[in-house]
Amino acid sequence: MEIKWFWIVILAVAVAVAVGLMETEGCLEQERVALLHLKSFFNSPSALWDWVDVKGSHCCQWERVQCSNTSRRVIQLSLNSARLHRYAVYLNASLFLPFEELKSLSLVDNEIAGFVDNEGLLPLKELDLSYNLLQNSTFAFISRLSNLKSLSIAGNNLQGCIDIKEMNKLAKLKHLDLSDNQIESLQSFEELENASTNVQEIYMSDSHLSNNILQSIGALTSLRRLTLQNSSLSGPLPSKGWCDLWNLELLDLSRNALEGSIPSCFSNLTSLQLLDLSNNHIKVPSSFISFANNSFLKYLFVDQIHLVSESTLQIRTKHSEFQLQVLCMSNYKTKGSSKELPNFLYYQYDLRYLDLSNNNFGGQTPTWLLENNTRLQQFLMSGNSFKGPLQSPKHANVNMFEVDMSNNEMQGQVPMNICSTFPQLEYFSLSRNAFEGTIPPCFGGLKSLSLLDLSSNNFSRGILEELAKSNSLQTLRLSNNNLSGKIPTSILISNIDGLYLDGNNFHGEIPKIDLSAIPFSSFRDIDLRNNHLSGKIPRWIWNVSSLETLDLSNNHFDGHIPRELCNLGSLIFLDLSKNKFSGSVPSCICSLAIEHLHLSKNRLSGPLPRALYRSSSLVTLDLNQNNFTGKIPDWIDTLSSLTILLLKANQFEGKIPSQICRLNSLSIIDLSQNKFFGPIPSCLSNFSLEPTFEKSFPNAWSLPGIRVLEDAEHADSTIHWYPYSYVEEQVAFTTKKGLHTYSGNILDYMSGIDLSCNRLTGQIPFEIGNLSELHALNLSHNYLTGFIPPSFSKLKQIESLDLSYNKLSGIIPIQMMELNSLAVFNVSYNNFSGNIPHEKAQFATFDESSYLGNPLLCGPPKHESCTGTGSIPKSPNASDSEEESGWLDMHAFYLTFCVCYIIVLMTIGAVLYINPHWRRAWFYFIQHCIDTCYYFIVDNIIGVSLFRRSP
Ligand SMILES: *[C@@H]1O[C@H](CO)[C@@H](O)[C@H](O)[C@H]1NC(C)=O
Ligand SMILES: *[C@@H]1O[C@H](CO)[C@@H](O)[C@H](O)[C@H]1NC(C)=O
Ligand SMILES: *[C@@H]1O[C@H](CO)[C@@H](O)[C@H](O)[C@H]1NC(C)=O
Ligand SMILES: *[C@@H]1O[C@H](CO)[C@@H](O)[C@H](O)[C@H]1NC(C)=O
Ligand SMILES: *[C@@H]1O[C@H](CO)[C@@H](O)[C@H](O)[C@H]1NC(C)=O
Repeated sequence: MEIKWFWIVILAVAVAVAVGLMETEGCLEQERVALLHLKSFFNSPSALWDWVDVKGSHCCQWERVQCSNTSRRVIQLSLNSARLHRYAVYLNASLFLPFEELKSLSLVDNEIAGFVDNEGLLPLKELDLSYNLLQNSTFAFISRLSNLKSLSIAGNNLQGCIDIKEMNKLAKLKHLDLSDNQIESLQSFEELENASTNVQEIYMSDSHLSNNILQSIGALTSLRRLTLQNSSLSGPLPSKGWCDLWNLELLDLSRNALEGSIPSCFSNLTSLQLLDLSNNHIKVPSSFISFANNSFLKYLFVDQIHLVSESTLQIRTKHSEFQLQVLCMSNYKTKGSSKELPNFLYYQYDLRYLDLSNNNFGGQTPTWLLENNTRLQQFLMSGNSFKGPLQSPKHANVNMFEVDMSNNEMQGQVPMNICSTFPQLEYFSLSRNAFEGTIPPCFGGLKSLSLLDLSSNNFSRGILEELAKSNSLQTLRLSNNNLSGKIPTSILISNIDGLYLDGNNFHGEIPKIDLSAIPFSSFRDIDLRNNHLSGKIPRWIWNVSSLETLDLSNNHFDGHIPRELCNLGSLIFLDLSKNKFSGSVPSCICSLAIEHLHLSKNRLSGPLPRALYRSSSLVTLDLNQNNFTGKIPDWIDTLSSLTILLLKANQFEGKIPSQICRLNSLSIIDLSQNKFFGPIPSCLSNFSLEPTFEKSFPNAWSLPGIRVLEDAEHADSTIHWYPYSYVEEQVAFTTKKGLHTYSGNILDYMSGIDLSCNRLTGQIPFEIGNLSELHALNLSHNYLTGFIPPSFSKLKQIESLDLSYNKLSGIIPIQMMELNSLAVFNVSYNNFSGNIPHEKAQFATFDESSYLGNPLLCGPPKHESCTGTGSIPKSPNASDSEEESGWLDMHAFYLTFCVCYIIVLMTIGAVLYINPHWRRAWFYFIQHCIDTCYYFIVDNIIGVSLFRRSP
């Protein structure tokens, strides 16, 4: 008897162990088969690569599958972006029937347009259908999934009005995401039963909602989070409805066009903790009295609101009960009033994050904010007009890790105890103020400091050796101060990877260091421009393989640019302009991925370096003012990313090759002051000249957002951007009579062509008129003939047009009066004739200096009047005897045409026998011949008729 029991127990244990072993091996067989079935629908090989039917492949270990730890059944499937063929499909939901315990299913981005059947989805608690092609009807379909707690249909094709009475069936639904559809409103709120009002979170960002949603949404009384960001809401905030959401904890109405003030019913929202009203036209009294009763309010986002000042009486009577932890109120818009900080700030003592940037608040630096809020972690007040010295608060702010006081009017010394006041500093910026004296050496001892920006002040003393002691400092920016002396070795062998000492008075040589002695040098940016450094560039620099940006411009460096430059495999930006470098450019430079190359104002020579052949990453090539010689090579079109080409003031010669036109991102071209000859290629009109964002360097990187905010979704929107590199692309280009330096964003929009001071001949190609985005055109000081193409009236963006010192003739087309952007216009020293179009628009602003040296031009602003006797120009264009001149022109035209025609015929036969080079030359000649004929027609016939139309 006992033995029998013993065996039974043994057997039972064995079975249990066996079952246990089996289960840990993998999922159930029917689920494994079902998963493989799914694979025929979700057919992207890379997405479900490990779903394979081989022995020993356990489906619970497959990627995107999660099984229950106890039952070993599939509970979660994540099939995002898992389809290969991109076309709309219907998903047969019965494929999911075998997964009886499936709780969570994610089908993001699969071009699903709808479902066949829905049985398979019934057990689901979480369903993510975002970024598919689902229509309105989906909502009704989903309503059968009565177990759903969380549903996302974001980024689909839901449109117009959505009937939410279906939600009655989704009694357990808590989280609903309908963002990024074209939903205009929700309807049937009145038909909601109690059961459906369980929903706690609704996200409808990026919709096209009408305002009445705020009035009706109050029916969902259990709502705790409501996000209607960027949803086209406009008009005033309603005075009832939404205020009934007394459970609401998070309300995001940012980036809409809401206006007016906050209605008094808002005080009903007593549970509110996070409120985002930023980027609207909402008015908030500077006492923030509107939020006085929202006593749980902790996170308040009111960037770009209108701050309204009010009578002090009101302020005395009541002040806000809330204690904020996060306040973002940057960039407020106010009609010329309040420069004072809002009074309610006086009552805050629990702030962790405070952003007052770009508000132009004035007065003394509000040190009391730091004193009152001892838990402050991030304090941003750049872009105001705070004055006075920086005073350390009485007590240390041990939590403070980010302080940005840049761009104010603060002055005086920085207190030497600043580091003990903020012992945890990570990011500290005082740039663009008027601080002076000594840089506190203690910064070198702060153990977390990673970014120190003291640029654009008047600091005159600083012991760089002390700063170099920091183990944490990565970016040190002391640009544009009055620092002097030699650059110490220690700063070069420190941990710093972004070193900006530009715009000071440093002199002497860059010290020689032994790179191999440093564990690893991680320099990313070195900016020493605008100092008085001299000597040769030390060799070690060429071995810093991490270097991306090197700017040594405007110093007194000399010597050759060595081949070792090409060791810098990460280099993106190199500026050696305004030094005394000589010799040629090393031929290996094409092996680099360099994008911005500035070598202007040196003594470099040789032909346009073959070195650049196929440098397809090059965006800017600036060789201005050197001694380069030779032609622009035919292979110029291999520089396929080139947008800025500056070859001004060298010894280049030859024709401008038509290959240049294949560089269709080119938008700033300066070939002036060289010895180019021949015609202007008409294909220059191929340039699109659209703004591009590669021209301006650099990019931006983000600093941590608001650390106190646990709500990750919200932290996202408040990340602030710092420049990734402070080195900015600068381009000198002559427009509007002066040499301008373009940098930053302006560069993205700038476009210009400068071919002045060469030996160009022929006509101005009429196609140039197609460059409707062109901002500046300078063709002066050449030997151009013919007339101004009437197509120039299409240069709608042109601001500066200089055609002076050529041999142009004819009239100034009256159509050009339509050029409303034109600020500088110069046609002097040509042979223009006829009336000056002076009466209208921009042309009324040009004075006589625009027209000097054209004896046959008449009318204001010149003193010669057109009606005066003897002033009628002799030019055929302006002749009185139109018939006769037209007749003569026609004769001349036919004559020229026939001569051309005969030459063409005679040569065609010959050309066939001549070698290809000659053949090409002939074609060129014939093309030119035809062009000449064409211009003859236009110049003499159309030109005349234009002139006739002008008064
Ligand atoms: C299953 O176990 C793993 C590791 O032991 C654990 O990380 C996971 O949370 C568990 N899953 C469930 C649903 O309990
Ligand atoms: C569904 O979409 C259509 C447009 O496709 C829209 O007109 C309609 O209002 C939407 N809502 C309902 C409930 O049909
Ligand atoms: C909401 O506010 C209005 C006006 O401020 C008030 O009349 C109403 O009683 C409040 N409702 C609740 C539920 O507190
Ligand atoms: C904050 O500082 C100001 C100025 O020193 C003071 O008037 C105010 O009472 C302080 N507020 C708190 C809450 O400590
Ligand atoms: C350029 O080269 C020529 C001769 O090749 C020389 O005379 C001239 O001084 C050089 N110019 C500069 C700026 O170095």
